[in-house]
Amino acid sequence: MKKKEFIGKNSLENIKYIAEEKKFDKILIFAGKKSLRASGADDKLNKILSKKKYEIFYKNNSLPDLEDLKKFIFKINNFKPDLIVAIGGGAVLDLAKISNCFFDLDTIEISVQNSKYNLKKKFSPLIAVPTTAGSGAEATANAVIYIDKKKYSVEGDIIKPDYIIIDPDLILSTPKLIAAAAGMDAISQAIESMISMKSTDESVKYSIISLNDSLKSFEKHINNQNFETAYKMSVAALNAGKAISISKTTAPHALSYPFTAFNGIAHGHAVYLTLNDFLKFNYTNLQASKSKFDLSERFKIIFNIFKVENINELTYKISNIASNVGLENSFKKLNIIKKDYENILKNINTQRLSNNPIDINLNDIREILNSKF
Ligand SMILES: [Fe+2]
Repeated sequence: MKKKEFIGKNSLENIKYIAEEKKFDKILIFAGKKSLRASGADDKLNKILSKKKYEIFYKNNSLPDLEDLKKFIFKINNFKPDLIVAIGGGAVLDLAKISNCFFDLDTIEISVQNSKYNLKKKFSPLIAVPTTAGSGAEATANAVIYIDKKKYSVEGDIIKPDYIIIDPDLILSTPKLIAAAAGMDAISQAIESMISMKSTDESVKYSIISLNDSLKSFEKHINNQNFETAYKMSVAALNAGKAISISKTTAPHALSYPFTAFNGIAHGHAVYLTLNDFLKFNYTNLQASKSKFDLSERFKIIFNIFKVENINELTYKISNIASNVGLENSFKKLNIIKKDYENILKNINTQRLSNNPIDINLNDIREILNSKF
């Protein structure tokens, strides 16, 4: 199989080689304005694509929402690229992934809301270039879109990017809090994947590789970063992405979306808010696991990776990591109030909740939320 992943210093230049090899002349670049400039990717792209016809199109909003999706789709139909490059955080990557497959769809809202779409073809090949180390969106067969602040997932193998370019220098400019949330997303995704109902031997392998890398490098990357930490965290995020592309995520993700949409908390940070609570919940209820695999064995693997003996040590260690990278866990300090419960409960992603190995009902969730005050 032809090489599809390019990881390492100056790997951004592979856009040029891919374009030359495949004779792509019209290139559409989707990006986030701030990250493109701050990462230095804009100057690099100007050089790399100097002989090509290309256009850069920016997203407007921080969440991947319907407004930006429609603009991306319009741009694709208008510019008619023969290659799309998505360069940015998870939101840009997800918008590019969906728009590239929904380019001729007239009924976006209804199709997304009812999960009724037939993903058969994409407009053009897609190169994904993450500028944060976290979401793993470069590797997943699904993408997030918010409609009226509710999160939906578009799923299908075809939306996976065709090429992945990871150029660690590009993530060195990510603001600290965004990088911290992103790294925590990768860690949560790898952990959730380990115990997800849909996990397989292959996804477990990716999770283990991912967690080993991120545990070694995450705190250093946030507090004293260098090329090496950026490299390790990028690869950790990629492997966590590969893990959840197989297994999907579980309860902490299911609950996280309203925190992001209504309280403005960054995705990875929002996931972390209940990660420890659900780990404890699942461990306490091990006997009730619906999984085909032995859930206690999976917990043992997680304990080993984190070098801890039991669930309390595990959650303590995770809390420590989060606090060392500056992620707040207090609902009070984050201005999450009890009134927000109804939004959270109403907007829980039940699809993700069903991947949890233990059945969770709304009362369990209420209890977990109540314990946060
Ligand atoms: Fe995530």
